[in-house]
Amino acid sequence: MNDTQLKDAVVTMMCENRRKTVGHVYTLPSPQSYPYQWLWDSCFHAIILSHFDIANAKEELLSLAVRQFENGMIPHMIYWERSEAAEHDVFNVAWGKKDTSSLTQPPMLAYAVWRIYQLDYDITFLKSMYFALFHFYKYLLNERDPYEKHLIGIINPDESGEDNSPRFDALLDLPPVHTSEENFKRRLALVEENRVCNFDAPFCMKNFFWVKDVPFNAIMVENLRTLSKIAGKLGYSYDALYFNEEAERIASAMRLLMFEDGMYFATQGEHYGKIKVKTWATFAPLFALIPTRSEAERLVQEHLTNEKEFATPFSIPTVAADDPSFNPEGFWRGPVWIAVNWFVFQGLLKYGFNEHANVIYQHSRKLIEQSGFREQFHPYTGAGYGAKNFTWGGLVLDMMETQNTDLIVPEKFKMEQQH
Ligand code: GLC
Repeated sequence: MNDTQLKDAVVTMMCENRRKTVGHVYTLPSPQSYPYQWLWDSCFHAIILSHFDIANAKEELLSLAVRQFENGMIPHMIYWERSEAAEHDVFNVAWGKKDTSSLTQPPMLAYAVWRIYQLDYDITFLKSMYFALFHFYKYLLNERDPYEKHLIGIINPDESGEDNSPRFDALLDLPPVHTSEENFKRRLALVEENRVCNFDAPFCMKNFFWVKDVPFNAIMVENLRTLSKIAGKLGYSYDALYFNEEAERIASAMRLLMFEDGMYFATQGEHYGKIKVKTWATFAPLFALIPTRSEAERLVQEHLTNEKEFATPFSIPTVAADDPSFNPEGFWRGPVWIAVNWFVFQGLLKYGFNEHANVIYQHSRKLIEQSGFREQFHPYTGAGYGAKNFTWGGLVLDMMETQNTDLIVPEKFKMEQQH
């Protein structure tokens, strides 16, 4: 496939998956498997669409704001159109509320808004998203950090976007090897607890499930910095200062509470104990420039390029190949996911590790060319699994355009910052 063919394939898929309902436009991650709107998926969609359809990229994000809760949370699923059959499907009945889920997902929204703004400098679009952004990030800062340690908590594994990742096994009381049904049952039980306590997140965290996850917090840091830029553009200088300070507080807390022996680990519960499971999450802080240059080098040399861990023939596996929970066909327990590759690719570029970023891009592209737009891929064979016509493969287009236009970045890179 050449670049034009790849772009055409992405455009076709994104058009096929687009839906319009009661005035709102959004994209299904996969028509057969995921027939609703998902929060972080829509942010990925906006990034993909920004390369060929800015108007729909904006619509995709505006529609998320429509179902924002009064407390500011944006739900991770919106069921715009519920057919009879859909009322009995697992997403709809199980996730807490009638028209939306009761959970959220990694906060990529500010980043997606800013990417679009940088293409056409449409200040009206920034203004129309600001209220939703302000309240969403304030909600996370206020409601998801009850001990004020500056790490944002999740109340269910699904809020990480990595539903059955082994990072959450211990808290779900599950061994490294178990069935996906057992895993799903535990996660649904948490949704039920959440519903019973009337969606009181601090209460749920303290009593049922409380993880401060690495990618979620790294994404939060990068997005708060971006939100600070958005606030600045709109002339809200107090907000700009505030969001930037909060970003740096979280970045420091991540280094203090998550970092050990050269790796980043999620922490759990009120004691913030580290969950020492080796997953791709250790690379997520690169996306927010949190590790120093030498720490980043160590992550690359000792882990990313280590064949026993993350340097599989198709990289990068979501779980290190030598972790006891690794399962190359296990959904979030080993297979390659293109959005994960995208985060690591972006992070590596920020440090000027262009060659390593290029390897990830080439592998991602090969996976799509060989197996199509599948949800996940086997890290040794490249075989595709799960949902078909799955939109995340479209992020390869963003990697391609980045490679073609923006390869030289080291000047962006403020190394050996004030750590
Ligand atoms: C799966 C993924 C989640 C994604 C959803 C829709 O549940 O784990 O991250 O948002 O599918 O694509």
